[in-house]
Amino acid sequence: MTSTEMTAEVLRAHAEEAFAGELAALAAQDERPRPARWRLSPWAVATYLLGGELPDGTVITPKYVGPRRIVEVAITTLATDRALLLLGVPGTAKTWVSEHLAAAISGDSTLLVQGTAGTAEEAVRYGWNYAQLLANGPSREALVPSPVLRAMADGKIARVEELTRIPADVQDSLITVLSEKTLPIPELNGETQAVRGFNLIATANDRDRGVNELSSALRRRFNTVVLPLPATLDEEVEIVTRRVGQLGRALELPELPGGAQEIRRVVTVFRELRDGVTTDGRTKVKTPTGTLSTAEAISVVTAGLALAAHFGDGVLRAGEVAAGVLGAVVRDPVADQVVWREYVEGVLRERDGWQDFYRAARELSE
Ligand SMILES: Nc1ncnc2c1ncn2[C@@H]1O[C@H](COP(=O)(O)OP(=O)(O)O)[C@@H](O)[C@H]1O
Ligand SMILES: [Mg+2]
Repeated sequence: MTSTEMTAEVLRAHAEEAFAGELAALAAQDERPRPARWRLSPWAVATYLLGGELPDGTVITPKYVGPRRIVEVAITTLATDRALLLLGVPGTAKTWVSEHLAAAISGDSTLLVQGTAGTAEEAVRYGWNYAQLLANGPSREALVPSPVLRAMADGKIARVEELTRIPADVQDSLITVLSEKTLPIPELNGETQAVRGFNLIATANDRDRGVNELSSALRRRFNTVVLPLPATLDEEVEIVTRRVGQLGRALELPELPGGAQEIRRVVTVFRELRDGVTTDGRTKVKTPTGTLSTAEAISVVTAGLALAAHFGDGVLRAGEVAAGVLGAVVRDPVADQVVWREYVEGVLRERDGWQDFYRAARELSE
């Protein structure tokens, strides 16, 4: 099997593989100065994220839909000596943006530490290959570098997901890395110094605040960029449409008529319940406990498409997305059920052109 065939077989290619063509075109036509070891100039990284057209006509697809300034500040931060903290509610593309930034800047989005309550120091610093350690004592060969250590040595971007879920003492091992740009290795009487090009992107969830509040010492090493929820219905519809298209192609689902209408309806329901008011501003609605993020809207529509493709009549219909919407809205079986019923009866029942959606929603609640 050739490596391109292998790439076609993996379930989810890394950004630098999935968008290798775009990245190569950008690199070839990018004449602006690049920071040390960056594959692209900051300007070209922004174009990669936000989309655009190159002088030779190559189209760069937008990865992130949102304010340009946010993306510019994020990229600029990575060219300074401060690290980048992407903050936001779940589903605001923090992980997504972090992956694409690392892919565009270092050509490698895989130097990743997944933060959990169980993340140990070895995941952030280094561990040991015990067979080697016992046989030959501590040596560079016996050392197992963490993704952060490898990024430091190679001058690349490291990624730490869900930083605030990591226990405070483990978080603190990042302070030296980020302030001194070195990682001491006392067992070897040595250290690894970061080379130019190294930096770190961390993501953290707004809702996790208080779980493991970042220490102020660590916080000072970061420039914080908050990723907002999509500002308008149209923007959110665009994001969902784009991602559903990509995911559908990856799953080899056909494009179905009805898709555009159902996407708009799912996003409308999510936004109204999230905002606590209908889009026309006339009716207040109660807010359910779940987040109802853009990411969830994407899953609901993709699942609906799969249902329609395998068991439907070739058109995406309300019945195929309603169950997903209900599942996303009703997290607490008691409280959310009440919120949902009120919304269905109070808002959807009377809405022009939504009779099929209303019926599908009602059938589910019975
Ligand atoms: N503003 C946006 N632009 C592009 N994609 C978005 C946007 N908001 C959400 N998404 C999509 O939502 C999905 C989930 O985002 P993710 O990065 O996992 O969220 P987070 O890490 O913030 O919880 C991704 O597939 C991403 O494409
Ligand atoms: Mg995430």
